[in-house]
Amino acid sequence: MSTETVSDQLSTDHLLGMADLTADDIALIFRTADGFKEVLRRPIKKVPSLRDITIANLFFENSTRTRISFELAEKRLSADVINFSSAASSVKKGETLIDTVNNILAMKVDMVVMRHPDPGAAVFLSRHVNARIINAGDGTHEHPTQALLDAYSIRERLGSVKGRKVVIVGDILHSRVALSNMLCLKKLGAEVMLCGPPTLMPRHVASMGVRVEHDLDKALRWCDVANMLRIQLERQADDGPAYFPSLREYAMLYGLDRQRYERIGRDIVIMHPGPINRGVEITSDVADSGASIILDQVENGVAVRMAVLYLLAGGIHRDN
Ligand code: NCD
Repeated sequence: MSTETVSDQLSTDHLLGMADLTADDIALIFRTADGFKEVLRRPIKKVPSLRDITIANLFFENSTRTRISFELAEKRLSADVINFSSAASSVKKGETLIDTVNNILAMKVDMVVMRHPDPGAAVFLSRHVNARIINAGDGTHEHPTQALLDAYSIRERLGSVKGRKVVIVGDILHSRVALSNMLCLKKLGAEVMLCGPPTLMPRHVASMGVRVEHDLDKALRWCDVANMLRIQLERQADDGPAYFPSLREYAMLYGLDRQRYERIGRDIVIMHPGPINRGVEITSDVADSGASIILDQVENGVAVRMAVLYLLAGGIHRDN
Protein backbone atom coordinates (compact mmCIF):
# COMPACT_ATOMS: atom_id res chain seq x y z
CA MET A 1 0.00 0.00 0.00
CA SER A 2 1.25 3.45 -0.83
CA THR A 3 0.68 4.77 2.74
CA GLU A 4 2.94 2.13 4.27
CA THR A 5 6.47 2.97 5.30
CA VAL A 6 9.50 1.00 6.42
CA SER A 7 9.43 2.40 9.98
CA ASP A 8 9.14 -0.22 12.72
CA GLN A 9 8.57 2.18 15.62
CA LEU A 10 5.60 4.29 16.63
CA SER A 11 6.14 8.03 16.97
CA THR A 12 4.69 7.93 20.50
CA ASP A 13 5.40 6.11 23.81
CA HIS A 14 1.72 5.88 24.80
CA LEU A 15 -1.56 5.42 22.97
CA LEU A 16 -3.67 8.18 24.48
CA GLY A 17 -5.77 9.14 21.48
CA MET A 18 -5.93 9.08 17.70
CA ALA A 19 -4.90 12.73 17.81
CA ASP A 20 -1.34 11.54 18.68
CA LEU A 21 -0.88 9.02 15.86
CA THR A 22 0.42 9.78 12.38
CA ALA A 23 -0.78 8.05 9.21
CA ASP A 24 2.55 6.17 9.24
CA ASP A 25 1.89 4.97 12.80
CA ILE A 26 -1.52 3.67 11.73
CA ALA A 27 -0.01 1.90 8.70
CA LEU A 28 2.58 0.27 10.99
CA ILE A 29 -0.13 -0.87 13.42
CA PHE A 30 -2.17 -2.36 10.55
CA ARG A 31 0.85 -4.12 9.06
CA THR A 32 1.72 -5.57 12.48
CA ALA A 33 -1.93 -6.58 13.05
CA ASP A 34 -1.93 -8.45 9.71
CA GLY A 35 0.86 -10.65 11.08
CA PHE A 36 -0.95 -11.24 14.37
CA LYS A 37 -4.19 -12.04 12.57
CA GLU A 38 -2.34 -14.82 10.84
CA VAL A 39 -1.08 -16.06 14.26
CA LEU A 40 -4.66 -16.06 15.58
CA ARG A 41 -5.70 -18.42 12.79
CA ARG A 42 -3.08 -21.02 13.77
CA PRO A 43 -3.92 -24.00 16.01
CA ILE A 44 -1.54 -22.57 18.63
CA LYS A 45 -2.60 -18.92 18.83
CA LYS A 46 0.24 -17.71 20.98
CA VAL A 47 3.62 -16.04 20.48
CA PRO A 48 6.30 -15.33 23.12
CA SER A 49 6.78 -11.64 22.12
CA LEU A 50 5.84 -10.05 25.50
CA ARG A 51 7.08 -12.85 27.78
CA ASP A 52 8.99 -10.43 30.03
CA ILE A 53 6.30 -7.71 30.12
CA THR A 54 3.68 -7.19 32.84
CA ILE A 55 0.47 -5.38 31.94
CA ALA A 56 -2.23 -4.04 34.28
CA ASN A 57 -5.76 -3.63 32.94
CA LEU A 58 -7.40 -0.93 35.03
CA PHE A 59 -11.11 -0.55 34.38
CA PHE A 60 -12.80 2.24 36.30
CA GLU A 61 -15.90 1.97 34.10
CA ASN A 62 -17.98 -0.98 32.91
CA SER A 63 -16.73 -2.91 29.91
CA THR A 64 -17.17 -6.36 28.45
CA ARG A 65 -15.65 -6.67 25.00
CA THR A 66 -12.85 -4.11 25.31
CA ARG A 67 -11.60 -5.63 28.58
CA ILE A 68 -11.78 -9.19 27.27
CA SER A 69 -10.22 -8.18 23.96
CA PHE A 70 -7.23 -6.52 25.65
CA GLU A 71 -6.78 -9.42 28.06
CA LEU A 72 -6.86 -11.95 25.25
CA ALA A 73 -4.42 -9.87 23.17
CA GLU A 74 -2.03 -9.70 26.15
CA LYS A 75 -2.26 -13.44 26.81
CA ARG A 76 -1.76 -14.30 23.12
CA LEU A 77 1.49 -12.29 23.36
CA SER A 78 2.51 -14.20 26.55
CA ALA A 79 2.50 -11.11 28.79
CA ASP A 80 1.83 -11.40 32.52
CA VAL A 81 -1.57 -9.81 33.17
CA ILE A 82 -3.28 -8.34 36.20
CA ASN A 83 -6.87 -7.13 36.15
CA PHE A 84 -8.38 -4.46 38.30
CA SER A 85 -11.88 -3.08 38.35
CA SER A 86 -12.83 -0.11 40.47
CA ALA A 87 -15.95 -1.75 41.90
CA ALA A 88 -13.76 -4.09 43.96
CA SER A 89 -10.92 -1.68 44.80
CA SER A 90 -9.67 0.91 47.28
CA VAL A 91 -10.85 3.66 44.91
CA LYS A 92 -14.14 3.23 46.70
CA LYS A 93 -12.25 4.01 49.95
CA GLY A 94 -11.12 7.41 48.62
CA GLU A 95 -7.70 6.59 47.11
CA THR A 96 -6.58 8.93 44.28
CA LEU A 97 -5.96 7.68 40.74
CA ILE A 98 -2.21 8.36 40.95
CA ASP A 99 -1.90 6.54 44.30
CA THR A 100 -3.86 3.56 43.01
CA VAL A 101 -1.75 3.31 39.88
CA ASN A 102 1.59 3.94 41.61
CA ASN A 103 0.83 1.14 44.06
CA ILE A 104 0.22 -1.18 41.16
CA LEU A 105 3.37 -0.01 39.38
CA ALA A 106 5.43 -0.62 42.55
CA MET A 107 4.79 -4.29 41.79
CA LYS A 108 6.86 -3.79 38.59
CA VAL A 109 4.17 -3.29 35.98
CA ASP A 110 5.39 -2.09 32.55
CA MET A 111 2.17 -1.10 30.81
CA VAL A 112 -1.25 0.12 31.88
CA VAL A 113 -4.44 -0.27 29.85
CA MET A 114 -6.98 2.07 31.40
CA ARG A 115 -10.68 2.80 30.95
CA HIS A 116 -11.93 5.74 33.00
CA PRO A 117 -15.11 7.84 33.09
CA ASP A 118 -13.21 11.17 33.02
CA PRO A 119 -12.02 12.68 29.72
CA GLY A 120 -8.24 13.22 29.91
CA ALA A 121 -7.62 10.56 32.58
CA ALA A 122 -5.15 8.65 30.36
CA VAL A 123 -3.23 11.82 29.41
CA PHE A 124 -3.08 12.78 33.10
CA LEU A 125 -1.75 9.36 34.07
CA SER A 126 0.89 9.36 31.33
CA ARG A 127 2.32 12.58 32.80
CA HIS A 128 2.47 11.30 36.38
CA VAL A 129 3.41 7.63 36.33
CA ASN A 130 6.30 5.73 34.84
CA ALA A 131 4.65 3.18 32.52
CA ARG A 132 3.37 2.95 28.97
CA ILE A 133 -0.31 3.98 28.99
CA ILE A 134 -2.99 2.76 26.58
CA ASN A 135 -6.31 4.58 26.68
CA ALA A 136 -9.15 2.04 26.54
CA GLY A 137 -11.77 4.83 26.64
CA ASP A 138 -11.73 8.05 28.69
CA GLY A 139 -15.25 9.36 29.21
CA THR A 140 -16.64 11.08 26.13
CA HIS A 141 -13.14 11.86 24.81
CA GLU A 142 -11.27 9.10 22.92
CA HIS A 143 -11.22 5.33 22.40
CA PRO A 144 -8.28 4.94 20.02
CA THR A 145 -8.08 1.13 19.75
CA GLN A 146 -11.77 1.05 18.75
CA ALA A 147 -11.08 3.51 15.92
CA LEU A 148 -8.05 1.48 14.82
CA LEU A 149 -9.98 -1.79 14.73
CA ASP A 150 -12.85 -0.07 12.92
CA ALA A 151 -10.58 1.35 10.22
CA TYR A 152 -8.72 -1.97 10.00
CA SER A 153 -12.06 -3.74 9.44
CA ILE A 154 -13.05 -1.27 6.69
CA ARG A 155 -9.68 -1.84 5.00
CA GLU A 156 -10.20 -5.60 5.23
CA ARG A 157 -13.72 -5.50 3.72
CA LEU A 158 -13.20 -2.80 1.07
CA GLY A 159 -9.45 -3.12 0.36
CA SER A 160 -8.64 0.43 1.46
CA VAL A 161 -9.85 3.27 3.67
CA LYS A 162 -8.61 6.15 1.51
CA GLY A 163 -11.42 7.80 -0.45
CA ARG A 164 -14.17 5.78 1.26
CA LYS A 165 -17.25 7.61 2.44
CA VAL A 166 -18.03 6.76 6.06
CA VAL A 167 -21.06 8.01 7.98
CA ILE A 168 -21.06 7.83 11.78
CA VAL A 169 -24.65 7.79 13.04
CA GLY A 170 -26.14 8.51 16.44
CA ASP A 171 -25.09 10.08 19.72
CA ILE A 172 -22.03 11.92 18.43
CA LEU A 173 -22.05 14.32 21.39
CA HIS A 174 -21.39 11.64 24.02
CA SER A 175 -19.37 9.19 21.94
CA ARG A 176 -15.62 8.70 22.31
CA VAL A 177 -15.88 6.22 19.43
CA ALA A 178 -17.13 9.01 17.15
CA LEU A 179 -14.24 11.38 17.90
CA SER A 180 -11.55 8.71 17.61
CA ASN A 181 -13.10 7.40 14.39
CA MET A 182 -13.30 10.87 12.86
CA LEU A 183 -9.62 11.53 13.58
CA CYS A 184 -8.46 8.08 12.42
CA LEU A 185 -10.52 8.00 9.22
CA LYS A 186 -9.45 11.49 8.20
CA LYS A 187 -5.77 10.64 8.76
CA LEU A 188 -6.28 7.69 6.43
CA GLY A 189 -7.89 9.85 3.73
CA ALA A 190 -11.55 8.81 4.13
CA GLU A 191 -14.46 11.24 3.77
CA VAL A 192 -16.41 11.44 7.02
CA MET A 193 -20.03 12.43 7.63
CA LEU A 194 -21.79 12.65 10.98
CA CYS A 195 -25.51 12.00 11.19
CA GLY A 196 -27.84 12.35 14.17
CA PRO A 197 -30.37 14.66 15.78
CA PRO A 198 -29.18 18.29 16.16
CA THR A 199 -29.33 17.90 19.96
CA LEU A 200 -26.71 15.11 19.83
CA MET A 201 -24.36 16.89 17.41
CA PRO A 202 -21.46 18.85 18.97
CA ARG A 203 -21.53 22.50 17.93
CA HIS A 204 -18.90 23.59 15.38
CA VAL A 205 -17.98 19.95 14.64
CA ALA A 206 -17.95 20.74 10.90
CA SER A 207 -14.77 22.75 11.57
CA MET A 208 -13.02 19.36 11.98
CA GLY A 209 -13.45 18.82 8.25
CA VAL A 210 -16.43 16.48 8.44
CA ARG A 211 -19.89 16.79 6.86
CA VAL A 212 -22.99 16.99 9.03
CA GLU A 213 -26.34 15.57 7.87
CA HIS A 214 -29.49 15.23 9.94
CA ASP A 215 -31.43 13.09 7.45
CA LEU A 216 -30.37 9.44 7.79
CA ASP A 217 -31.78 8.38 4.40
CA LYS A 218 -29.67 11.04 2.64
CA ALA A 219 -26.60 10.03 4.66
CA LEU A 220 -27.05 6.36 3.77
CA ARG A 221 -27.40 7.19 0.07
CA TRP A 222 -24.08 9.07 0.25
CA CYS A 223 -21.94 6.54 2.11
CA ASP A 224 -19.98 3.33 1.50
CA VAL A 225 -19.92 2.49 5.22
CA ALA A 226 -22.36 3.28 8.06
CA ASN A 227 -21.12 3.02 11.64
CA MET A 228 -24.21 2.89 13.88
CA LEU A 229 -23.50 4.11 17.42
CA ARG A 230 -25.31 3.33 20.63
CA ILE A 231 -27.32 6.06 22.35
CA GLN A 232 -25.26 6.75 25.49
CA LEU A 233 -28.21 6.92 27.88
CA GLU A 234 -25.96 6.52 30.93
CA ARG A 235 -24.07 9.71 29.97
CA GLN A 236 -27.17 11.61 28.85
CA ALA A 237 -28.82 10.97 32.22
CA ASP A 238 -26.23 13.25 33.91
CA ASP A 239 -27.02 16.19 31.60
CA GLY A 240 -30.57 17.12 32.67
CA PRO A 241 -33.45 17.34 30.16
CA ALA A 242 -33.78 14.58 27.53
CA TYR A 243 -32.10 14.98 24.12
CA PHE A 244 -35.04 13.45 22.20
CA PRO A 245 -38.67 12.64 23.01
CA SER A 246 -38.48 8.84 23.14
CA LEU A 247 -36.35 5.88 22.04
CA ARG A 248 -39.20 4.92 19.71
CA GLU A 249 -39.02 8.25 17.92
CA TYR A 250 -35.22 8.04 17.79
CA ALA A 251 -35.46 4.57 16.22
CA MET A 252 -37.93 5.84 13.60
CA LEU A 253 -35.68 8.72 12.54
CA TYR A 254 -32.18 7.34 13.14
CA GLY A 255 -32.53 3.57 13.48
CA LEU A 256 -31.39 1.31 10.64
CA ASP A 257 -33.85 -1.44 9.76
CA ARG A 258 -34.17 -3.73 6.73
CA GLN A 259 -36.65 -1.44 4.91
CA ARG A 260 -34.39 1.57 5.27
CA TYR A 261 -31.36 -0.48 4.18
CA GLU A 262 -33.19 -1.71 1.08
CA ARG A 263 -34.20 1.83 0.12
CA ILE A 264 -30.49 2.63 -0.41
CA GLY A 265 -30.65 0.43 -3.53
CA ARG A 266 -27.05 -0.88 -3.31
CA ASP A 267 -24.84 -2.60 -0.76
CA ILE A 268 -23.08 -0.64 1.95
CA VAL A 269 -21.00 -1.91 4.88
CA ILE A 270 -22.65 -1.82 8.31
CA MET A 271 -20.63 -1.42 11.52
CA HIS A 272 -21.34 -1.10 15.23
CA PRO A 273 -18.81 -0.89 18.10
CA GLY A 274 -21.12 -2.76 20.50
CA PRO A 275 -22.87 -3.15 22.81
CA ILE A 276 -25.90 -3.07 20.47
CA ASN A 277 -29.30 -1.93 21.61
CA ARG A 278 -31.21 -4.07 19.13
CA GLY A 279 -34.29 -2.31 17.81
CA VAL A 280 -32.99 1.16 18.72
CA GLU A 281 -30.03 2.16 16.52
CA ILE A 282 -30.15 -1.04 14.45
CA THR A 283 -32.51 -3.98 14.06
CA SER A 284 -31.39 -7.61 14.21
CA ASP A 285 -32.14 -8.29 10.53
CA VAL A 286 -29.52 -5.68 9.54
CA ALA A 287 -27.04 -6.31 12.39
CA ASP A 288 -26.92 -10.02 11.55
CA SER A 289 -26.99 -9.62 7.72
CA GLY A 290 -24.18 -10.16 5.19
CA ALA A 291 -23.71 -6.37 4.98
CA SER A 292 -22.68 -6.27 8.63
CA ILE A 293 -19.02 -6.60 9.70
CA ILE A 294 -19.84 -6.28 13.41
CA LEU A 295 -18.30 -9.64 14.36
CA ASP A 296 -15.25 -8.98 12.13
CA GLN A 297 -14.73 -5.82 14.19
CA VAL A 298 -14.67 -7.91 17.38
CA GLU A 299 -12.28 -10.46 15.87
CA ASN A 300 -9.97 -7.79 14.47
CA GLY A 301 -9.94 -6.04 17.85
CA VAL A 302 -7.68 -8.72 19.28
CA ALA A 303 -5.13 -8.54 16.43
CA VAL A 304 -5.11 -4.72 16.42
CA ARG A 305 -4.65 -4.59 20.22
CA MET A 306 -1.84 -7.16 19.98
CA ALA A 307 -0.17 -4.86 17.45
CA VAL A 308 -0.49 -1.78 19.68
CA LEU A 309 0.80 -3.62 22.77
CA TYR A 310 3.67 -5.18 20.85
CA LEU A 311 4.79 -1.90 19.26
CA LEU A 312 4.59 0.09 22.52
CA ALA A 313 6.42 -2.67 24.43
CA GLY A 314 9.24 -2.48 21.85
CA GLY A 315 9.99 0.94 23.30
CA ILE A 316 10.34 -0.55 26.81
CA HIS A 317 13.13 -2.85 25.58
CA ARG A 318 14.81 0.10 23.86
CA ASP A 319 14.76 2.29 26.96
CA ASN A 320 16.19 -0.35 29.34
C1 NCD B 1 -17.93 1.62 23.11
C2 NCD B 1 -17.41 2.38 24.31
O1 NCD B 1 -17.28 1.83 25.39
O2 NCD B 1 -17.12 3.54 24.12
N1 NCD B 1 -17.95 0.24 23.28
C3 NCD B 1 -16.82 -0.50 23.16
O3 NCD B 1 -15.75 -0.11 23.54
N2 NCD B 1 -16.94 -1.66 22.51
C4 NCD B 1 -19.22 2.13 22.62
C5 NCD B 1 -20.40 2.14 23.53
O4 NCD B 1 -20.31 1.94 24.72
O5 NCD B 1 -21.48 2.41 22.99
